[in-house]
Amino acid sequence: METLQVKDKTFAISIPAAEIQQQVRRVAAEISKDMAGRDPLFLPVLNGSFIFAADLLREVNIPCEVSFIKLASYQGTNSTGTIREVIGLASDITGRDVIIVEDIIDSGLTMAHMIETLQKQNPASISVCSLLVKPDALKVQIPIHYRCMDIPNDFIVGYGLDYDGFGRNTKDIYTLV
Ligand code: IMP
Ligand code: MG
Repeated sequence: METLQVKDKTFAISIPAAEIQQQVRRVAAEISKDMAGRDPLFLPVLNGSFIFAADLLREVNIPCEVSFIKLASYQGTNSTGTIREVIGLASDITGRDVIIVEDIIDSGLTMAHMIETLQKQNPASISVCSLLVKPDALKVQIPIHYRCMDIPNDFIVGYGLDYDGFGRNTKDIYTLV
């Protein structure tokens, strides 16, 4: 079993690079078909989606733009505890077909907040594209238009995803053992 040590934790390979690439190509083809003629604006969410976005965008074969956004977390006083603010949106998204690109949707709270924030700027449409979804962890209903893979409710690293900032720089995805 191929393992990866990230700080104090050991991970085992769970999704090999070839399978990731196959699913990324499938989703890119779906987006290229659905969004033909609409010049979509991709909004990858940093940091986790940087590798996924780089691979995805190179497989999309229609005219499109890309602009990166980031989330700043701070402790809030609302029911969800942590409010994550969308920062760094440099592009005007008014009237645009926007595709949010995420590494993983866990509880879905981050994505729900992001959709709500972007909606205020009157885009023509908002689509959600996530490399991974943990269906058993979802706490809110959100539309997920494009997803590469569903995974169990386990902690994973690699291919952009981190444990305490480390472990992003792998081609495969690893699960905590
Ligand atoms: P949500 O708001 O609960 O959906 O959280 C989504 C965010 O949590 C993702 O963008 C990741 O940054 C992080 N996250 C959730 N699950 C994992 C995991 O298994 N490994 C690494 N990061 C994760
Ligand atoms: Mg993330």
